[in-house]
Amino acid sequence: MSDRYLDFANSPLGKSIAAALGLPAPPRLRRAESGFAAQPLAERPVLLGGGSGAGLAGSLLAALHSAGAVIRIAPSHAGLPAIKQAAAAAGIALKTEPGAEDRGNGPFALVYDASGVRGPADLRELYDFCQPQVSRIPANGRVLLLSRAPAENRDAAAHAASQALRGFVRSLGKEVGKKGITVNLLEVGRDADALLAGPLRFFLSEHAAFVTGQPLALTAPFAPAAPLREFGATLSGKVAVVTGAARGIGAAIAATLAREGAQVVGIDRPQEEGMLGQTLAAINGFGLPLDITAVDAPARIAGELDKRFGGADIVVHNAGITRDKMLKNMPPHFWDQVLDVNFGAILRINEQLLAGGLKPGARMVCISSIGGIGGNAGQTNYGATKAGVIGYVESLAAEMAGRGGAINAVAPGFIETQMTAAMPAIPREVGRRLSSLGQGGLPIDIAEAVTFFASPLAAAVNGRTLRVCGQNYFGA
Ligand SMILES: NC(=O)c1ccc[n+]([C@@H]2O[C@H](COP(=O)([O-])OP(=O)(O)OC[C@H]3O[C@@H](n4cnc5c(N)ncnc54)[C@H](O)[C@@H]3O)[C@@H](O)[C@H]2O)c1
Repeated sequence: MSDRYLDFANSPLGKSIAAALGLPAPPRLRRAESGFAAQPLAERPVLLGGGSGAGLAGSLLAALHSAGAVIRIAPSHAGLPAIKQAAAAAGIALKTEPGAEDRGNGPFALVYDASGVRGPADLRELYDFCQPQVSRIPANGRVLLLSRAPAENRDAAAHAASQALRGFVRSLGKEVGKKGITVNLLEVGRDADALLAGPLRFFLSEHAAFVTGQPLALTAPFAPAAPLREFGATLSGKVAVVTGAARGIGAAIAATLAREGAQVVGIDRPQEEGMLGQTLAAINGFGLPLDITAVDAPARIAGELDKRFGGADIVVHNAGITRDKMLKNMPPHFWDQVLDVNFGAILRINEQLLAGGLKPGARMVCISSIGGIGGNAGQTNYGATKAGVIGYVESLAAEMAGRGGAINAVAPGFIETQMTAAMPAIPREVGRRLSSLGQGGLPIDIAEAVTFFASPLAAAVNGRTLRVCGQNYFGA
C-alpha cells in the first residue's frame, strides 16, 4: 500500500539514478494538511486572463479576491479590458505580471476565462495566453480554464470551440503532470456564474492534488448560494453516513467529513466491527456493524439515523467489492455478489432513505470507478456496477435538486488501498505509473472530492461524475 518507487525517485540518490537510467520520476504531490480554508489562495499569485467575448471576469475576480489570491494580469491580451473594468468596479487591485523572461517568479496558477470562445481564432487567444506562461508555473501549480457548457451554444462553431477546450485541458494535463501541476476545466452554466467560487477554490487548492485533466459542469443552483464566509467550517452540524467506513477509502472519507465538522455514522460488515470501532472512535463517530446487502439493512440504517440524529444530511455509498474473472470463467456467485454490494444495496438503501431518512438539502455521493468508464478485462461485473452508478446519479439529480440537495459520483483511478494491494505486481505497477501524475492516489484524494461534493462549495454541482485518478490512461 505504499509506493516505494515514488519514495526512491524523490530521494537524492534515487533522483540521479532515475535520471541516468531515463526512468520516470513521479512528483511528490503537495496535499492539504488541514480543512477547507477561508482563504485557500492567501498570498498566492494567480495570473488571470480571458479571451474575446468572455463574460466571467466579474465572478472570477470576486472568487479569487475572496480566496486571498494576489491577482496578476498579463500586459496585453484580448480579455484584459473586461478584467480591468470589472476590477475597477469592484475596487480590486491588479498587479501586472513580470515578463515571461522572469523565470524565477512564475504564477502559482493560470486562470483563463474562455467563456466567449466561438471558433478557431478564439482558441488562438488561449494559446497566446498560456504558451509563454506554462513553463513558469512552479511544481504543484494549477491551470484552470472556464467555459460555457458546449451544449449551451446554439452555433456549431461555438459548440465545437467549447468542446475543444476539453482536449486542450486533457493534453496539457499530460504535459505538465510530471511537475505535479493539474489542469482542469469548469463548464459554467449561464445561471451558475455566481457559484463558481466554490469549485474554483477546490480545483486551485491542495485538496484537489490528484484531480487533473477533468471537466466539471456547474448548473443552476439547487440551494441558495452559501455566503463566502461559510467556506471555512463547512459541515458543522451535519450528520453523514458512510458505508464501508472501516478501512481504505471509506475510513478516509469518514475522517475528512469529520475534519469539516460533520458527525459521522460509519457502516461496515460485522466481521470488521473491531476496525470500524477504532476508525469511528478516532473521530468521535458512531459505528454501525452491518452488511449492507442484508435484507433488513435499509430499515436498520434509517431506524438508527432517525433514533439518534433525526435523519442524514450526507450519504456516501462507498462500500464496494471486486470479484474479478474473465466473463467466460466467471461463476454466477461472483456476478451476483458484486452486483448486490456495488449496485443493488445502494438502490435499496436509497429507496428507504428517500421515503423518509434524509434531512432537507441532503447530499449524496456514490463511489464509481474509472473501470466503469473505460472498462477492464476481467471486470464485467464490477465495470457494469460502476457505470450503473454514473447513470444513477444522472437520473436521481432532478429529484435530489427538488429537495434542495444533490447527488454526484467520484470515479477513483488507482488508489493505494488493500483492494489494489491485492493486485498482481505488474498490473499494479502499470496502473500506478500510466497516468499524468505517474503515481497512484491516496484514500485522502477521494475523500477530499467527496467532501467537496458534500459541502457548500459544490452548490452548483449535481448529477456529475468527477474522475479523481491523476488522469489515469485507463478509462480515458
Ligand atoms: N482502491 C481503488 O483503487 C479503487 C478504484 C476505484 C474505485 N474504488 C472504489 O472505492 C470504494 C472503496 O474501495 P477501497 O479500495 O477502500 O476498498 P477496501 O476493500 O479497502 O474497503 C471496502 C470496505 O467496504 C466494506 N464492505 C464490503 N462489502 C460490504 C458490505 N456488504 N457491507 C458493508 N461493508 C462492506 C469492506 O469491509 C471494507 O471495509 C469501493 O466502492 C471501490 O469499488 C476503489
